Amino acid sequence: MTIIDTRVDLDITPLSGNIGAEIRGVDLGNLDEESVREIRRIWLDRKVVFFPGQDLDPESHQAFAAHFGELTEGHPVVPGLDGFPNVFEIDYSKARELYASYGDVSTRTQGLDWHTDVTFVERPPLGSILRAVVAPPAGGDTVFSNQQAAFEAFSPSFQAFLETLTAVHDGQKAFQSIFDKNGSGRWEGQEVPKLDPVIHPVVRTHPETGAKVLFVNPGFTSHIDGLERSESDALLGFLYNHSVKPEFTVRYHWATGDIAFWDNRATQHSVVGDFGEQHRVIQRVTLRGDVPV
Ligand SMILES: [Fe+2]
Repeated sequence: MTIIDTRVDLDITPLSGNIGAEIRGVDLGNLDEESVREIRRIWLDRKVVFFPGQDLDPESHQAFAAHFGELTEGHPVVPGLDGFPNVFEIDYSKARELYASYGDVSTRTQGLDWHTDVTFVERPPLGSILRAVVAPPAGGDTVFSNQQAAFEAFSPSFQAFLETLTAVHDGQKAFQSIFDKNGSGRWEGQEVPKLDPVIHPVVRTHPETGAKVLFVNPGFTSHIDGLERSESDALLGFLYNHSVKPEFTVRYHWATGDIAFWDNRATQHSVVGDFGEQHRVIQRVTLRGDVPV
């Protein structure tokens, strides 16, 4: 584990051996430049940072996010909040009704399966900042997995093989029915006319740290290019199991007001679907990313 030291007065607690830290002693609505630099440094190292007990609203949530990058629409298919197109909200009880009305009761679109956000576009997000608007009294945790650690755990020969591969990422299975109903979507301020699949490397190089990162996810990766379908299915199944082994993960229990900020270039995440009919509402602000290479 990297030992965390800091020059500003942040109270930082690593939450597992490979990923995650809790940061206290800071008001995210009132940040100085040095704190922003320190948070970015800790975030790049820990992949996801959590800020308990904050008091943000949609406006200050966006202002906090803007310290770390350029905002985009929260989702290329599902529209944002009224008046806040860059704030993407999921009220899980409404989401169930919404997806049922589309004839799709899959939990995929609610984030309960492992995934990396929006990898089905050419430039997936750099990262996301999530605010717990209503945390359920019990359950509804989010688990994050470090995809740099997952890649580094492989043998050099297998790493070298994976680095030769590219994979197709396809948002149609999860989102085509919503897309068809809405007619189009928006991403990075532009209209998205259709949900064409895209190709990304199976191993990407992190643009800030230079680290190699495993970059396939069961939410959106459909197959690996150039392999027989049976080979692709077997390899992806193996990679999916490996990439979320407990030793690469951290599990966070939410209280209302908590903020999480994750590096979408180096992680997968999944909501634990154990909260039943309890109310759970989150809002997400998303930062523009670049083309994975
Ligand atoms: Fe997600």
